[in-house]
Amino acid sequence: MQPKSNIVHLPVYKPGKPIEDVKRELGLSEVIKLASNENPFGFSNFAKSAIQEQLQQINYYPDGASVELTSALATHLLVKPEQLIFGTGSSDIILMIARAFLTLEDETIMAEETFSQYKHNAEVENAIVVEVPLVDGKHDLVAMQAAITERTKIIWICNPNNPTGTIVTNEELVAFLDKVPDHVMVVLDEAYGEYVEDPSFSNGIQLLDKYHNLVLLRTFSKIYGLASLRIGYGIGDPEIIAYINQVREPFNTTRLAQVAAKAALADDAFLSYCREQNRAGIDFINQELERLGLDYFPAHGNFVMFDAKRASSEVFQSLLQKGIVARAGWKNYPNWIRISVGTMPQNEKFIAALEQVLQEVTVQ
Ligand SMILES: Cc1ncc(COP(=O)(O)O)c(C=O)c1O
Repeated sequence: MQPKSNIVHLPVYKPGKPIEDVKRELGLSEVIKLASNENPFGFSNFAKSAIQEQLQQINYYPDGASVELTSALATHLLVKPEQLIFGTGSSDIILMIARAFLTLEDETIMAEETFSQYKHNAEVENAIVVEVPLVDGKHDLVAMQAAITERTKIIWICNPNNPTGTIVTNEELVAFLDKVPDHVMVVLDEAYGEYVEDPSFSNGIQLLDKYHNLVLLRTFSKIYGLASLRIGYGIGDPEIIAYINQVREPFNTTRLAQVAAKAALADDAFLSYCREQNRAGIDFINQELERLGLDYFPAHGNFVMFDAKRASSEVFQSLLQKGIVARAGWKNYPNWIRISVGTMPQNEKFIAALEQVLQEVTVQ
C-alpha cells in the first residue's frame, strides 16, 4: 500500500517528553516539565465549574459550529461572529488553512526556526516551503517580503516566535503588510500574544480592518491553561473564514472545551495573575542566566531561549537526569535550549540544575 509520496519523509510531531515517561525511564521521583510552554498556574475556576456542569451532557455531540462560544468571543474581542473559526487547538486551524488554500507547487514562506506545524502541514499538501533565516532570533520581514513570488500563497509569522520568544513590532508588521500583495494570505500566529507587555507589540485585531488578507491564530492552550482540552481559534475576513470552515471536521471542538473556553474568557483576574507571575519568572531566569554568563533572546511569551554554550543535546540529557525536561534540537541553534517559565520554585530548581549541568558538560 502506497502513501502519498510527499508524506513518506515527514517526521511524526515530537512533543515535550511526558513527566511519567521521564520518571519511569530515569527512576526519578520528581520531574518538572518545562518543555511545552504550558501554563504552570493551572486554569480558571470559572472553567472548572463550567466543565463540571457540562459533564452531564457528554453523551451528546457538541455544537459543531460553537455558536455560544463564537458569540461570547466575538463580544470579547469586538469582532463579528463570521470572523471566527474554532479548532482542536490552533494546530487544527493551521491544518485547515493548509488544507483549504495550499496545493501542489504553491509556495509558502515562513521563518527557518519557528513553530513546526506550518512546514509540516504545507508539506502534507505538497506545497513548496520557503524558509527565511531569523536575524538575532527575530523574523526577517524584509527578507520574507523579498521571497514573495507569483506562486506565493501564504506567509506565516509567529509573534512572539516559538522557539525564540522574540516579537516583531506593530510598526514592522504594518510596513510589511503594506508591501504584501492582497492575494497572499498572511497568517499571524499569536499563540503567546496575551503574555506580551511590550508596548511596541501589535494587537493583530486592529489590523484586520485594513488588511483583509490577514488571519490571526489564537489558542486557549497557553495563558488560559486549557491545553489538554484542545481548543484554539482563527480570526479573519469572513470570506476566508468561510473557506476554512468548509474543510473543518464536523465536531472538531468538544462540549467541555467550548464551555471551558467561554467561561475562561470572563476571568480577567486569572489572566492578570498569570501574566504577573510569568513576568516575575522571566526576570528571575534572565537575571540568573546573566549571572551564569549565558546569552538569551528577549522573552515575550512564557518561555526563554538561551545559549548554553555547550551542545544542546548534551545539556538537554544532563538536565533530564536532574529531573528537568527542557527543549532542544534547532538546526541553526545547536547550543541553545528553550525552557518554559514555571512556578517560582520550579524556576529555582531549573537554575540549580542548570548550574550543575554547566559544570558537567564541556563548553563547545
Ligand atoms: C506558536 C504556536 N502556535 C500554535 C501552537 C499550537 O497550540 P494549540 O494547538 O495547543 O492551540 C503552539 C503550541 O505550542 C505554538 O507554540
